[in-house]
Amino acid sequence: MSENCWKYVYLEKIDSTNNYIRENLNTLSDRTVITAVEQTSGKGRLGRTWASPPGGLYFSILWKPAPIPGFASRVSLMIADAICSVIGEEGINAEIKWPNDIIINNRKLGGILAESGTHPVSWLIVGVGLNLDIAPNLNRIGGKLDPIALNALVEKHLHPVPLLERFLAAVDRIWPDRIKNPLEICLNSINNRLWFKGKTARLARGQEISSGMISGIDESGRLILTTAAGILKSETGELILPIQ
Ligand code: BTN
Repeated sequence: MSENCWKYVYLEKIDSTNNYIRENLNTLSDRTVITAVEQTSGKGRLGRTWASPPGGLYFSILWKPAPIPGFASRVSLMIADAICSVIGEEGINAEIKWPNDIIINNRKLGGILAESGTHPVSWLIVGVGLNLDIAPNLNRIGGKLDPIALNALVEKHLHPVPLLERFLAAVDRIWPDRIKNPLEICLNSINNRLWFKGKTARLARGQEISSGMISGIDESGRLILTTAAGILKSETGELILPIQ
């Protein structure tokens, strides 16, 4: 098998595909993709849970060694772009809510959770959860977004495994050379898909709330917010939407 192939591991049931990789870092190799029909303790961002009954697509990708330390948010945005491009092939407009939610019709289709570390070598895991047949993930904190299921929108039922293969083929098209900053290649595309661009939003960073217009994402993956006090570029935070 070529080093550059994706290596697929299909599981029926696991606590979390991200955790599975973390627990098997010593034996799993670069570009391994773990998929599960069901997760019993799916993890979301900011310590939330990700409800993962059968009927969704749950997968995690391992890069070992990690592309470039510090590139986790850029790789996550690139993956979001790849997912949106494949969904676009089905005639559906998917958008990216910074930092890395997938949105259709102002509803949350899925999310991305990146984790990274340096032991035993540098590693990056990007985990993706997408609602396919069902939409269990009520992520009402902050964004007040209802969930949406992809298969409720398409004429021909999309099966998880072929869809996953299409996503990974899109990743290879967008980011064939893992050395480069992925955002050098797909930043324009991401900014074109950026949900709420040009509109007013609030950004929560801990207790601090900043209000402004979403102007875009920069080449480091930071959100650019134009506030009354000037341009704010933020690496972290949660958008609170919308302002009525
Ligand atoms: C979020 O929107 O908060 C991110 C959700 C990420 C969920 C996926 S499902 C596959 C992978 N395994 C996990 O435990 N979480 C991610």
